[in-house]
Amino acid sequence: MNEDDDVSASPHALPMALVGDGESVPCVDGVARPYLNLDAAASTSALPEVARRAMEFLPSYASVHRGAGYRSRQATAAYEEARQAALAFAGRSDRDGDVAIFCRNTTEAINHLAYRLRLEPRDVVVTTVIEHHANLLPWARLCDRRFVECGVSGTFTADDVTEVLDAAPRPKLLAISGASNVTGWRPPLEEIIEAAHARGVPVLVDAAQLAPHAPMPTTADYLAWSGHKMYAPFGAGVLIGPRSTFAEGHPFLAGGGAVDLVDLDEVIWTEPPDREEAGSPNVLGAVALAAAIRELLAIGWPAIAAHDHQTRTALRTGLAGIPGLRMLGPPATNDTLALATFVVEGIPHALVAARLSAEFGIGVRHGCFCAHPYLLRLLGLSPAEVAAYREAVLAGDRRTIPGAVRASASLSTSPEDIDRLISAMTAITSGDPPPVDYHQDPGTGDYWPATDQPGWTAQERGVGAPCARR
Ligand code: ALA
Repeated sequence: MNEDDDVSASPHALPMALVGDGESVPCVDGVARPYLNLDAAASTSALPEVARRAMEFLPSYASVHRGAGYRSRQATAAYEEARQAALAFAGRSDRDGDVAIFCRNTTEAINHLAYRLRLEPRDVVVTTVIEHHANLLPWARLCDRRFVECGVSGTFTADDVTEVLDAAPRPKLLAISGASNVTGWRPPLEEIIEAAHARGVPVLVDAAQLAPHAPMPTTADYLAWSGHKMYAPFGAGVLIGPRSTFAEGHPFLAGGGAVDLVDLDEVIWTEPPDREEAGSPNVLGAVALAAAIRELLAIGWPAIAAHDHQTRTALRTGLAGIPGLRMLGPPATNDTLALATFVVEGIPHALVAARLSAEFGIGVRHGCFCAHPYLLRLLGLSPAEVAAYREAVLAGDRRTIPGAVRASASLSTSPEDIDRLISAMTAITSGDPPPVDYHQDPGTGDYWPATDQPGWTAQERGVGAPCARR
């Protein structure tokens, strides 16, 4: 290979390092190991270019939309450029009649939309049982829901969706995930959106997981996604939808910046998107998100898809070869995200995750992944098992929390990283006793190693949080 052929010379070749890669963490044998983050589906580290742009922007930081100073003009321009970048990323522009509203994350974006659709309690939103809680709970408190069920492998077809859409009364919205955070499965969105539109039903796509992996579904009426899952962990997310949805009625948040005129007994709300962004916005978050968009587009979807494919194949093939380990969800296709969710026979998910962290320096997520209805189905729990767990949790005992372990890859995941996970899982499932005892906290369900090694002493347990029950 001559120098020109060396793809690693490109700043955008994959895998690429993320901020924090290579930093070591303490393990219970007293050895510090480079942290291996296999929890990208929960949240991603920053791309170096995103961090660079955030630092570059900070000296120009000033109030936006409300300052006459030169820096306020610069900051306002950067914020509005970020809005245009978000619209373009979603395959549209404000000339199409759509607006991009900055919010904290996907959860806030969907709550925002749910409020702004001005739903009546008897209105119906169709959603699916594979959704993250962010796309279940905001609808639950405002209207009726009808659900698309999934089969044992955790999928459904476009026909399954149309059957639910066709039931009476006609739904006001279809709210569906672009990719599952649990199995990485991607519903056939194009077909589903077309079917919904043929029935006059608008569609929201929860694109939180999809955003860092593939182009947005441009035909969706509404889109919501988060910067922190696409290498811009600076606290900004986006809601996109037709301007007309936000031009009438009260905004989700009431306050400064959203108004044209306020008197003690009157308010004249201004136009969207400002109408929807009361309070000082997260300018740095928006600027970082725009930098992540630019960087993902510079890397290119084909390269991202190829890396996802390679990583997913190595991950699933390696894990599938470990005795006692059962993968949840459908077999991977070219579309499936680079993640694997599994259970280990005879070892609780919380203990597997605790051992990966404490003994091997590997970060994964375990539990129900904020998608309880989906997990219960994938695990195939009986109504009696669910009822028993419900009783226990109501009594504050979370030791038997159902769940699984999820390893999810990022742009920085290398074949060596996957090998490291596979060899750790092989050791954990070997039947050899762990090097230290682990104790379970009944209140959280989490395990903690009994050791005095720095980083893992009982006093340091406060660092971190209960993960199992989420
Ligand atoms: N939704 C995030 C996850 O899947 C937090 O872990």
